[in-house]
Amino acid sequence: MPYFMQLGDVPRKRFSQHRRDDGRLYAAEVMGEEGFSSNMSLLYHRATPSAVMQASEAAWRAPDLVDNHPLLPRLLGTRALQEAGDMVGQRHLLCGNGDVLVSFAVADRPSPLYRNATGDELLFVHDGAARLETVFGALEVGQGDYVVIPKGTTHRWLPQGGQALRALVFETDGHIRPPKRYLTAQGQYNQEAPYSELDLRRPSEPLLCEGTDVEVLVKTRAGLTRYIYQTHPFDVVGWFGCNYPHALNIADFSPITGSFHRPPPVHQVFESRNCVFCNFVPRMMDYDPRAMPIPSYHQNVDSDELIFYAEGNFFSRKGSGVERGALSLHPAGHIHGPQPAAYEGGASRVGQRTEEFAVMLDTFKPLRLGRAALDAARPDYYQSWNAR
Ligand SMILES: [Fe+2]
Repeated sequence: MPYFMQLGDVPRKRFSQHRRDDGRLYAAEVMGEEGFSSNMSLLYHRATPSAVMQASEAAWRAPDLVDNHPLLPRLLGTRALQEAGDMVGQRHLLCGNGDVLVSFAVADRPSPLYRNATGDELLFVHDGAARLETVFGALEVGQGDYVVIPKGTTHRWLPQGGQALRALVFETDGHIRPPKRYLTAQGQYNQEAPYSELDLRRPSEPLLCEGTDVEVLVKTRAGLTRYIYQTHPFDVVGWFGCNYPHALNIADFSPITGSFHRPPPVHQVFESRNCVFCNFVPRMMDYDPRAMPIPSYHQNVDSDELIFYAEGNFFSRKGSGVERGALSLHPAGHIHGPQPAAYEGGASRVGQRTEEFAVMLDTFKPLRLGRAALDAARPDYYQSWNAR
């Protein structure tokens, strides 16, 4: 997150004494990335943020992934994934590798307080609404929102509106960043960027909660640890910096279009180590009369492509089983593309609009498959391009 902000009660000078009205010091916490040499935030707590009373191992399911072998494109459905729980405990693991884990979560109840110490989390809200409470403040999120939660941010999810919150969850092994080419040397979104600082939603005020003996779950690569803190972690009266949770709605992404085919990087929203996140939003299709506005058959030879079909009719894959809430995995080594009938009819779509929303993850290492993906996969999908 390159954009500086400050909120609440902070001192005039960085690393200076910051005192309460009664003269006691606030406890300053530096949350710094990459060995304190990259983005950081400074948070001012009412109480000591490291006052752990108890620590114990919590129940945890280690990621159970198998190779995509024999090599197949996969079509997964998320409608069947109905078992609800809380947003951090009920994650149906679909696929992943050492850089990113992809789950589909269904939540109908508040989550425990939680922080992920392995990497940033990126969620895409498909259905429902929620209040995300964090040490930095709260965010109200809903359908179509991306939510970025920096590594180490203590938070909890509170579903709102009586409907289950359904979201695609990406747990990275690094940090979620804007694409470098969309930032100036000074860190502002440049004018080529399909979204800007104005589109990002950030906490608007500190969040203060009272409490003692408060449980917080911490995820590491080894498992889940349960801490009991002396006081409530939501006791930050103010903070400043460039490291904080934020939201971006997919509808605020302004598509980049052209007279002829524009390559997939124009759809990129975020990047992380060894993977990129893209989206496809309603847009005008290629408009030169000679253009072929339907995608070519293609091999992304260095990447596995995972697409989540969020909204729309997905005409180029009509007849393949792609529907709202489905995910397709097209791995490196497999040639894929539109349905033959859609390709044939594609030329007539010059200058028309698509009305689709989809989210795509491209990974530079193969994605392995989770049990939920194998259970939800359509077995004959790899034959869906055949005429016979
Ligand atoms: Fe593709």
